[in-house]
Amino acid sequence: MAKYIIEGGRKLEGEIEISGSKNASLPIIAASILNSGVTKLYNVPNIRDTQIMIEILKVLGCKIKKSSGKIVIDSRKIQIHEIPEELMRKMRSSVILAGALLSRCNEAIFSCPGGCDIGARPIDLHLEGFKQIGIYIEENAGKIKCNCQNIIGNEITLDFPSVGATENIMLAAVNAEGKTIIKNAAREPEIIDLQCFLNKMGAKVTGAGESVITIQGVKQLKKDFGYKVMPDRIEAGTILCAAAATNGKVAINNIVPEHISAITYKLEKMGCKIKIEKNKIYIDASKKLKAQDIKTMPYPGFPTDMQSIFTSILSISKGTSIVVENIFENRYRYTSELIRMGAKIKIEGKTAIIKGVRRLYGASVTSTDLRGGASLVVAALSAKGTTEVSNIEYILRGYENLDKKLTKLGAKIKIKEGD
Ligand code: EPZ
Repeated sequence: MAKYIIEGGRKLEGEIEISGSKNASLPIIAASILNSGVTKLYNVPNIRDTQIMIEILKVLGCKIKKSSGKIVIDSRKIQIHEIPEELMRKMRSSVILAGALLSRCNEAIFSCPGGCDIGARPIDLHLEGFKQIGIYIEENAGKIKCNCQNIIGNEITLDFPSVGATENIMLAAVNAEGKTIIKNAAREPEIIDLQCFLNKMGAKVTGAGESVITIQGVKQLKKDFGYKVMPDRIEAGTILCAAAATNGKVAINNIVPEHISAITYKLEKMGCKIKIEKNKIYIDASKKLKAQDIKTMPYPGFPTDMQSIFTSILSISKGTSIVVENIFENRYRYTSELIRMGAKIKIEGKTAIIKGVRRLYGASVTSTDLRGGASLVVAALSAKGTTEVSNIEYILRGYENLDKKLTKLGAKIKIKEGD
């Protein structure tokens, strides 16, 4: 397993471009099988998760060509309606393909997506929504078989504004007979991006970004078209926190500022100066950071994906901070690694109590999951001495060229291939 070797204590300064969004790309790549045509996608980050989703599309029968910054997906031939188990296990969010397969072929077979490093990750809300629109579901021996004669529009109220369930039902409803209304839908920007993509394909989706989304079923979709994916708001937040951790001055380009207003708001409360221009954000973190309380919530609340990364900078802030993780039940595993670097963190159920220390110290630490790994990188950038972050395959799932971007900002970070 590869490692990052990071020499801490260097202020980050300069400007970088943010890559396309992982969490917008995955449902959009899945949705590109709906039109049985040729879809050109731009700004898709070249990371492990998008590579896996593309692998799955090839298994289903798509022809895919990748060139710099563009992916061309020819979905005219879909012969297989089953998501391969080993690829499903590698990336549970491939369950999003179920809705697209059902729309396209009236059938989808996949294995129960196991839990992962941050929680049980059930899909009951996805399946409940499918049942409401006429889809039959059979579960046995770890396999889930979904099929339908026709998909019939209906009104669905989600118990929780689940991002994946909202996206999966949107995809299943695109060609339904009649209208589907999703109430208590997730409001994340990635859902708006998916709506824009689907409408460019000829679907009729409205309301994304609010908690009621309406999908008017259509008979025909556009065969060929192109789409540019939105920027990655969590990568943007991660880079801003890396600047904050090193008292640096950084500008990030290609970002939609309102996508990360909950993040920049908290950074300002911690004493950072933030200046926002059209699609650019400057942070000046010269002052000592101050403690701040965080509660993760569905969008537009503070994003759970930033919880671990913020805990790193709260660990070196003046005062005691309280973090409450309200979305996933097991998203504090990384804290034991931060404690090895000198952080003072106590976990009580879904609450973390963080007593700020003057400095963290370099150590050998292990990534526990994607965003937990990112939090260790941010901590290592601020720490005194050298840190080895192992299991960086987790981090490479969701960050494109993170080491190159940080190096461009003045960090000393290199990848040491696994022995
Ligand atoms: C998406 O995951 C993101 N992944 C996650 O980002 C993100 O943390 C999460 O949304 C919340 O914002 C992608 O978009 C690929 P949920 P998803 O369904 O769709 C429970 C990252 O680091 N739930 O909104 O799986 C679930 O257990 C990843 O980039 C059910 O109970 O999130 C969780 O507690 C991590 N039943 C909560 O809802 C269901 O059927 C939120 O899950 C579905 C979800």
